[in-house]
Amino acid sequence: MNHPILLNGSILSQQKNEELKKILSNYPTLSLATILVGDDKASHIYVQAKIKACQSVGINPVPIFLSKDTTEQELLEQIELLNNDPAIDGILVQLPLPKHLDSYKVLESINPKKDVDCFHPFNMGNLSTGISNFAPATSTGIMMLLDSIKDQWSLESKNVVVVGASNIVGKPTAMLLLQKEATITIAHKKTKNLKELCLTADLIIVAVGKANLITKDMVKKGAVVIDVGMNRIQTEQGTKLVGDVDFENVKDLTFAITPVPKGVGPMTISALLHNLYFLYQHYHTKNNNDLR
Ligand code: GUN
Repeated sequence: MNHPILLNGSILSQQKNEELKKILSNYPTLSLATILVGDDKASHIYVQAKIKACQSVGINPVPIFLSKDTTEQELLEQIELLNNDPAIDGILVQLPLPKHLDSYKVLESINPKKDVDCFHPFNMGNLSTGISNFAPATSTGIMMLLDSIKDQWSLESKNVVVVGASNIVGKPTAMLLLQKEATITIAHKKTKNLKELCLTADLIIVAVGKANLITKDMVKKGAVVIDVGMNRIQTEQGTKLVGDVDFENVKDLTFAITPVPKGVGPMTISALLHNLYFLYQHYHTKNNNDLR
């Protein structure tokens, strides 16, 4: 069998970022506010990566770091300041928030026109009705990866199994795939007969955070596999970052597969930057009041 196509998110995201940088050079500098509450180590790494990516394409990052003891009222007031600041084009609140803060309430307080993550119910609703394909960054990044092989592999009429039903990845990705007329099953890591279900899939997208959940006996020959998982595991050589797929044993079965790292991860950041441009285009240059 031919070698699988390796869906390299590091290379594709660089291409996408260069394209965006060129486009953005025609506009006033856009500003993205990133709010991080607390000292979660992984969140700090993600936010730093987003700030660096902004700088690489000419977006002005406005990082805001708040202590882990920030009250909900204080956080909501900070968001309101940014909502009303004409110099701010996008607002991102890094998740997860400390437990004493109500994420739903916080995300709902962001002006939907500045909701670069597309986590606000207004934007998620538009995605669900199909009025808009503006979507959370990981979902958009996945679509960019699939689009990169569109000459060899098309989504239309395909059976897709999405494992993981989160609001950040599983649900919005399913909504974008529905817009492409794919047939979607959304499963959970504990779904009965997960193996049999996955074996019916032309495309498996997995985002649950469990190393080696998807093994080679669960993957149909010639399937496409997208691995959103990011798990740190202990090996004899130290800690290692792996996805939710047993990559080494699954890869040769597939038509195309994402590695971890350097697969979906870098695409998420690139798609976030594209989301900021999307909001600017729709709410400023097109003077639209909706996302059509
Ligand atoms: N936490 C994990 N993924 C994300 C994301 O895409 N956006 C935000 N804001 N927080 C996250």
